[in-house]
Amino acid sequence: MDKLRIAVIGAGYWGPNLVRNFRNSPDWDLVAVCDLDPLRAARVVGDRSTVEVETDVSRLLERDDVDAVAIATPARTHAELAVAALEAGKHVLVEKPLASNLEDARRMVEVAAAQGRALMLDHTFCYTPAVRHIRQMIADGVVGDVLYVDSVRINLGLVQPDVNVFWDLAPHDLSILDFILPSGLDVGPVTATGADPLGTGRACIGHASLPLPGGGIANISVNWLSPTKIRSFVVGGRNRTLVWDDLNPMQRVALYDRGVDVATRPDDLAERKQVNVSYRMGDIHVPALREAEALGLMVAEFAAAIREGRAPLTDGHSGMRVLSVLHAIDESLASGHAVSPQRGAAS
Ligand SMILES: NC(=O)c1ccc[n+]([C@@H]2O[C@H](COP(=O)([O-])OP(=O)(O)OC[C@H]3O[C@@H](n4cnc5c(N)ncnc54)[C@H](O)[C@@H]3O)[C@@H](O)[C@H]2O)c1
Repeated sequence: MDKLRIAVIGAGYWGPNLVRNFRNSPDWDLVAVCDLDPLRAARVVGDRSTVEVETDVSRLLERDDVDAVAIATPARTHAELAVAALEAGKHVLVEKPLASNLEDARRMVEVAAAQGRALMLDHTFCYTPAVRHIRQMIADGVVGDVLYVDSVRINLGLVQPDVNVFWDLAPHDLSILDFILPSGLDVGPVTATGADPLGTGRACIGHASLPLPGGGIANISVNWLSPTKIRSFVVGGRNRTLVWDDLNPMQRVALYDRGVDVATRPDDLAERKQVNVSYRMGDIHVPALREAEALGLMVAEFAAAIREGRAPLTDGHSGMRVLSVLHAIDESLASGHAVSPQRGAAS
């Protein structure tokens, strides 16, 4: 099968990871790397390479030998670049978050549909073997109804000039929730608290609570000020509990047959004091997951979606659902109240 031809726009911190994976992919031919800074792009391309360096996106989009572009520039530039690329007939992969506001995001989704082109989000973690396994365990009913999710994503992070810690780190947690939960990121009114104890002008520490359908709750903790890096994600189900520690290659995911069972649950709230609670202390199962780079699987999915003419697993709508929760988080931070994420085109 002929390779698809890709250009990567943005050669800063994350762009080189995309470049490496498109280069290594059997599906893709990397044609060009585009950055406003030609030296940065040239460094990523390397010496003795046939990959071209470009500094002007409009010139890049005029080329007939580019089928798709991958956009790894700051979020505020995503909408303008993506819409221009889609209107030029290119398929588009865009880094998270989809855009810096919902209006721009909706426009991107609409233009992609009108042009009949793929719009895919690099929700990187959805392509890790661990998250795919968790999704499967939930879909197969092994976990049972999801009662709670607890996600901790803390480390010494770069204090970003234009966004708070939620916009930097929580897109990962939110896109994972959207991917693994049977009803996606269908959450109730969001309550968020944030702190800026060093006076940087934006929240560097944040907690968000997202009510889940059926009475459960997802809690997200993000932090740029932690000296230790923690990536812990717990999915508590009625039948089993999954614990994912992305920093432990020996046991990334463990499935616990442990939890709380309620034998009788009277309908009358007053009588619930008498509920019969028992504790399960069963086995722990550690599945053998293959080690594979998520970005490699992500670029393969981008190619497959284009070839099969279908929506990618993480499409523009998933990007909009994540964005609508990020906006609800910001509004909750500002108002001190719980805020319902906007629904609509993000279905
Ligand atoms: N998927 C992930 O895990 C992950 C991790 C880190 C960053 N990201 C995302 O990647 C994106 C880029 O982040 P970064 O940290 O690499 O940013 P960065 O600032 O390090 O790099 C951005 C690059 O884009 C270039 N650029 C900006 N506007 C341009 C334009 N109009 N045309 C061409 N080049 C342009 C800049 O010159 C710069 O080199 C963001 O959306 C970020 O959220 C994703």
